[in-house]
Amino acid sequence: MNREDFPILKNCVYLDNAATTQKPKQVIERINKYYEEENANVHRGVYPLSEQATKKYDEVREKIARFINVKTKTIVFTKNATESLNTVAYGLSSLTKKKKIVLTVLNHHANIVPWQQLAKREDFTIEYIKLNEDLTLDMKDAEKKITPDTAVVAFPHIANANGTVIDVEKLIALARKNKALTVVDAVQSVPHRPVDATEMGCDFLAFSGHKMCGPTGIGVLHGKEDLLEKLPPMTTGGDMISLVTRRDAEWNDIPYKFEAGTPNMAGAIGLGEAVTYLESIGMEKIAKHGKTLRTYALQKLNAMSSITLYSPPKGACILSFTVENAHPHDVSALLGEQGVCVRGGHHCSMVLMDYLHLPGVSRVSFYFYNTKEDVDKFIIGLKKVVEVFE
Ligand code: ALA
Repeated sequence: MNREDFPILKNCVYLDNAATTQKPKQVIERINKYYEEENANVHRGVYPLSEQATKKYDEVREKIARFINVKTKTIVFTKNATESLNTVAYGLSSLTKKKKIVLTVLNHHANIVPWQQLAKREDFTIEYIKLNEDLTLDMKDAEKKITPDTAVVAFPHIANANGTVIDVEKLIALARKNKALTVVDAVQSVPHRPVDATEMGCDFLAFSGHKMCGPTGIGVLHGKEDLLEKLPPMTTGGDMISLVTRRDAEWNDIPYKFEAGTPNMAGAIGLGEAVTYLESIGMEKIAKHGKTLRTYALQKLNAMSSITLYSPPKGACILSFTVENAHPHDVSALLGEQGVCVRGGHHCSMVLMDYLHLPGVSRVSFYFYNTKEDVDKFIIGLKKVVEVFE
């Protein structure tokens, strides 16, 4: 699907889309056009070039809001999902007086470490929801851990390390019953399937531009309006204020309160183009293609006796596995020599690796531009790796 838009795909079989996706020519050209013809600082100048840049930057915010079905002012541009999650953890105490944080062992470091730092600063406790045998989330354990004293439940929609899909609606309902806030790391879901944050009912949702055909350095934090109003800004400075005196300052309205300094304007413009590009294909179609490739690759991996899978039978288009006698870094290096890009290691999920008693896993992750031929080349390469370690 649309492979010709990605010149880089001529050079390799790229199966590390959970780490970052490739960028279509349309996005690259749009960023170039911004710098060649449209660049000026936003929210500052009253001359036409700056006014136009401001208009375009804010139009992307509207587009992103439509894309996940929320109000425009609830979309904050950040550096990446990591910064989005840090922003929520930084200000959590302004939103709740409760002191228990519930995470899952599937969380990415970006959705663990900020909570740990908060716990150290302000005396919170942290508990982890465990998994079932098939590596899906143990909802019975979730019911035990999420209690009326829970301040926040933070979890991925789709686990980056192995593709487990969490039943977000169910988990959010459980959190709500206990009056706990919910923070969804949607980094691996927003690029791959339709996500309606209003329908989901989460309090906060984070994702990154570079994992959805956009540039690096731009991410999104969505939060419910009343919560964003109460949340303090993590970074302060220009543009995020409405008044500065010698001794104090007042904050700008949301979302600007969270966007201190000159923002990543070209990044936002590029992300807007990426969303246009994804929508022109259709999120349903992207999700369906991912499912087809997953099923196809799963069949082939299941047929290989030296492969142990660490992804649930049903999941997203991410598959993790180990090769008997081989370290995941060696698997990646040997596949790399054959032109196949696959990530190996702990995938920023050391808590999960510890839970599974593994040093790491190998991971393939697909996107709409991957084909069955890509999967075939990966399997041919993997068979050669298996031979080396037999
Ligand atoms: N979070 C990225 C990954 O899963 C880097 O590979």
